[in-house]
Amino acid sequence: TGMFTYDPGFTSTGSCQSAITYIDGEKGVLLHRGYPIDQLAEKSTFMEVAYLLLHGELPKKDELDTFVYTISRHTMLHEQLATFYRGFRRDAHPMAIMCGVVGALSAFYHDSTDITDPQQRMIASHRLIAKMPTIAAMAFKYSIGQPFLYPDNSLSYTGNFLRMTFGVPAEPYEVNPIIENAMRRIFILHADHEQNASTSTVRLAGSSGANPFACIAAGIACLWGPAHGGANEAALNMLREIGDVKRIPEYIARAKDKDDPFRLMGFGHRVYKNFDPRAKVMKETAEEVLKELNISDPVLDVAQELEHIALNDEYFIEKKLYPNVDFYSGVILNAIGFPTDMFTALFALARTVGWVAQWNEMISDPEQKIGRPRQLYTGATQRDYVPCNER
Ligand code: CMC
Repeated sequence: TGMFTYDPGFTSTGSCQSAITYIDGEKGVLLHRGYPIDQLAEKSTFMEVAYLLLHGELPKKDELDTFVYTISRHTMLHEQLATFYRGFRRDAHPMAIMCGVVGALSAFYHDSTDITDPQQRMIASHRLIAKMPTIAAMAFKYSIGQPFLYPDNSLSYTGNFLRMTFGVPAEPYEVNPIIENAMRRIFILHADHEQNASTSTVRLAGSSGANPFACIAAGIACLWGPAHGGANEAALNMLREIGDVKRIPEYIARAKDKDDPFRLMGFGHRVYKNFDPRAKVMKETAEEVLKELNISDPVLDVAQELEHIALNDEYFIEKKLYPNVDFYSGVILNAIGFPTDMFTALFALARTVGWVAQWNEMISDPEQKIGRPRQLYTGATQRDYVPCNER
């Protein structure tokens, strides 16, 4: 191919150097700045993980306090944005609203769009992390016709998000610690995943010097697809459609059928060819949440049985297809009470931390250049224009 390598889907192209996240797909290892994902999911707060991804080290007590304080100063949205929401149809998909609102932030926060200024970059990063729960909760409130709730900075990052989503102004809202803990884990498990499609999109958008709000909006657009973040919504819809463990073999057969485009949603991964370490924690969390909330959900039975059958099926073994992070997250979110179309919005909320960390790393990299892939041209060779009436 002459001057470049043809690599559709970038299965063997390293696009950058990064010190943020390490994955060993064969061994099922995922480390953020060296720390194993299961330890972070077990022990740290989401704010600690956000700080870790952004700054490279876990924060000391005073650093964490300052960080949490700074994030909480930015949780409100410009009041004019409430009007922006009202321009959408009530039945708009929350991801459609998120793409629009996050992109529109650059029209509101002019003092953090100069990417050559490290201080402005950090303010933009803080704003994005802080405002995302407000933006996602407002998308939900808008869809069900309830009033928007302002953030409450006395709560944790997750507690505040739960209150803005499920609370109403007429009553006090009590954060359920089991749900708060499950959300904390879900957010941590989704915080970063090195050069996945949406993160690569953020980097590519940012490589031209575009402002951070526009870059994150691009990431949200990419995440929406069912092969990526949209898989959590698609996986739960699939489990619901299957409905009964008796129907699982039918769906397994469809997934194996070459002539049927159907895939088992929540299965398979470009990098993990052994297991997805996030899925392990997610499965435990799903079982725990349902048990502690005393919910018996047939969807969990279908999920467990489907996993069992698929893991013992030749096709899935041979192709190294395992449940991924999105397989069990939907079961938890469903139990908490989120409608399926909010699932990917929650993924976007959590992944914003990774996106801004990766974007900052890229902008600070002296080797950073505009991303500009090449192509293999397969179109017509040169020919002469023919006037319309002579064609
Ligand atoms: N069900 C049935 N067959 C599958 C599946 C599946 N979920 N995933 C892959 N395959 C088959 C595929 O048909 C192909 O077979 P063949 O070699 O005979 O053509 C082979 O496995 C390899 O698949 P691929 O599409 O070439 O692999 P990829 O690395 O390009 O795709 C993937 C990875 C995650 C997009 C894909 O596994 C998939 O579509 N999974 C379902 C959607 C999903 O759960 N996505 C979430 C990914 S993890 C979190 C995230 O990124 O948001």
